[in-house]
Amino acid sequence: MTLFEASGLTRAYRLPRTSLFGPAGVRHAVHNVDLSLPDGHSLGIVGESGSGKSTLVRLLLGLEHPDAGTVRYRGRQVRPGRPRDLRWLRREVQVVLQDPIGSLNPRMPVGAIVAEPLECLGIDGNDNS
Ligand SMILES: Nc1ncnc2c1ncn2[C@@H]1O[C@H](COP(=O)(O)OP(=O)(O)OP(=O)(O)O)[C@@H](O)[C@H]1O
Ligand SMILES: [Mg+2]
Repeated sequence: MTLFEASGLTRAYRLPRTSLFGPAGVRHAVHNVDLSLPDGHSLGIVGESGSGKSTLVRLLLGLEHPDAGTVRYRGRQVRPGRPRDLRWLRREVQVVLQDPIGSLNPRMPVGAIVAEPLECLGIDGNDNS
């Protein structure tokens, strides 16, 4: 079974204008990427800073719309949209961020930090099953 399958993934960002009448530049972060990750395998994506690694991961997770291409997880298409429409993916695929401590909100009580992902996934805290 293939976990992730991407085909023709492309994402460009518009850059801020540098002159009043000149055209806005475009940064091609990810261009025409195909990848296949079979169950039980690992895939390392290596590249210099700014080469598009994080953009590729955001596209795989449906956190961004590709300009072109498709992503499938276990054969099901990942379509960015409302968070609730991607719950099926969020239940199985999680990100471990480079700086996880930096992504915690120091003002949030521990209980709220633990409860938030459960609420987002629609897991009822009173359900003992
Ligand atoms: N939201 C955005 N708006 C505009 N440009 C962006 C945006 N996100 C990424 N970029 C640009 O796209 C390119 C790829 O960025 P990305 O963050 O994917 O690279 P990276 O390989 O993850 O880099 P690093 O190793 O530093 O984390 C960079 O030139 C970056 O400036
Ligand atoms: Mg990155």
